[in-house]
Amino acid sequence: MSRRLRSGDPCWCGSEAKHKRCHGDHRALRREPVRPGEVGPVRTVPDGIARPDYVGGEPPHSAPLQIFTDPEELRALRRACAVAARVLVETAAHIAPGVTTDELDAAAHAAYLRLGAYPSTLGYGTYRKSICTSVNEVICHGIPDSRPLRDGDIVNIDVTAYIDGFHGDTSATFPVGAVGEPTAGLIHSALDAMHVGIEAVRPGRPVRDIGVAIEAFGRSRGYGVVADYGGHGIGRVFHAPPHISHVEDHRATTLMVPGMVFTVEPMLNAGGPDHDEWDDDWTIACVDGLPSAQFEHTVLVTETGHEILTVVAAG
Ligand code: MF3
Ligand code: CO
Ligand code: CO
Repeated sequence: MSRRLRSGDPCWCGSEAKHKRCHGDHRALRREPVRPGEVGPVRTVPDGIARPDYVGGEPPHSAPLQIFTDPEELRALRRACAVAARVLVETAAHIAPGVTTDELDAAAHAAYLRLGAYPSTLGYGTYRKSICTSVNEVICHGIPDSRPLRDGDIVNIDVTAYIDGFHGDTSATFPVGAVGEPTAGLIHSALDAMHVGIEAVRPGRPVRDIGVAIEAFGRSRGYGVVADYGGHGIGRVFHAPPHISHVEDHRATTLMVPGMVFTVEPMLNAGGPDHDEWDDDWTIACVDGLPSAQFEHTVLVTETGHEILTVVAAG
């Protein structure tokens, strides 16, 4: 495993200051722990918007690895991904101190419906919200609730849209008001880590390359890279093979081929790797209370490399 930048090392940012005096002061990052708020009523979707099969039943236990080469299928996939990207942008515009994560869910829900899409997480197993909102030390799968965002928080918004038979999945982490420099460094590094992983996407190579690249990058900046949650194949199924590890995994031998579609969604922790699941059976949070940041794109393997699909369409 590659070496994690230590507090006495020169900071990764080029300041020539010690990491602990620059972007590595984890104590300065510590905030009051995030506590569960109240989860509001389930939002409805008009009958005219098609639902994925698992709504009202069970998510599939296993799914085949799919390759998309048919132009019609690729067009539908691109559309689902563009819708997810647009919902993310529109939802993020509502972030401000005092806004609750459920108000973000309401904004996202309205955006999906206006664009003719179903929120893939709504009715996915026991999940009952249209996005995930993961605040501060919450790593992933936070449930929107009555907690108002506070100045200095960070929040990841994770959007998955289902339209014309395809899912598109994307997330980003945002500062709320003014965040400290170490927290800003964590957010920027998580974005960079996702792009370092995406750069490793090319046909003929094993998916393992993605995690190797992300882990080395995250550790070189002094962060921990979450090993227990990864990316996933996506398309007609929300969570499909291949599993995309964001850390080195010798079992990740699946070869990337043109037409393969999966997410790259690394989570970087300011502190340690230990995490707990809340009693809601979804929310995953760092036990040391230090923040975690994540970005996610849905990516298509092409003949020459890759294409990021979760981008807002022109026009
Ligand atoms: N969008 C999340 C992902 O990136 C999935 C969350 S599943 C949920 O895979 F049920 F928690 F929403
Ligand atoms: Co997601
Ligand atoms: Co995902």
